[in-house]
Amino acid sequence: MVEVRLQKYLAECGVASRRKSEELIKSGQVAINGKVVTELGTKVSEKDEVTVEGRLVSQTEQKVYVLLNKPTGYVTTVKDQFGRASVVDLIKEIRERVYPVGRLDYDTSGLLILTNDGELTYHLTHPKHEIEKVYNAFIEGVPTEEEIKRFQEGLKIEDYITSPAKFRIIKKENRNTWVEIVIHEGKNRQVRKMCEAIGHKVIALKRIAIGSIILGNLEEGKWRYMRNEELDALKNFSIELSN
Ligand code: URA
Repeated sequence: MVEVRLQKYLAECGVASRRKSEELIKSGQVAINGKVVTELGTKVSEKDEVTVEGRLVSQTEQKVYVLLNKPTGYVTTVKDQFGRASVVDLIKEIRERVYPVGRLDYDTSGLLILTNDGELTYHLTHPKHEIEKVYNAFIEGVPTEEEIKRFQEGLKIEDYITSPAKFRIIKKENRNTWVEIVIHEGKNRQVRKMCEAIGHKVIALKRIAIGSIILGNLEEGKWRYMRNEELDALKNFSIELSN
């Protein structure tokens, strides 16, 4: 019988991403055959009964993949300490318990992937080789060539040096500028911090693509299931990473 590590098993069952599953284990919320387990490497097989917060998990749940055009004014966590609306409220029709791949700020809009496929989430958000994400940002002022170069080459935000990124001016509007930004990383409020680091505060931010998946004309606040070819492209990306 095939044995897998507990966190991988939880991710495969759609409980949460592999990293979130590790947190669940460490905080004592996972039990195998009635016994709480906090050791990350613990192996399980299909014959074991695994529960999370007392709820039995199984590998039979169908995997679903959803694209949402998130409006501003929603958090991407399921619960919010300030009681703000969650993106989960916008996908109530979906029976399966899906959760966001990565995050978007409360005041950011645009493309968000939600799924119960924890393995895919794990690969797409792995810090070493995160997938390319494309943003349209409206920033204060007009950046100089020198500032753009700093942004593109990588700059210091707090204690972190960002990887090379793309930055291109789309158009100027009054005294401000619309720009297209492409980054591979997913640090908290990274685009906003990078723009601020070159002296241009973000006025509005929208994600328009994740890898080859494009937001297109999906209406704000609406969702759709991912098309097969879109899912294949994401899975191929994730397979390339694991090799
Ligand atoms: N970068 C940000 O600053 N915010 C987001 O929501 C996404 C990327």
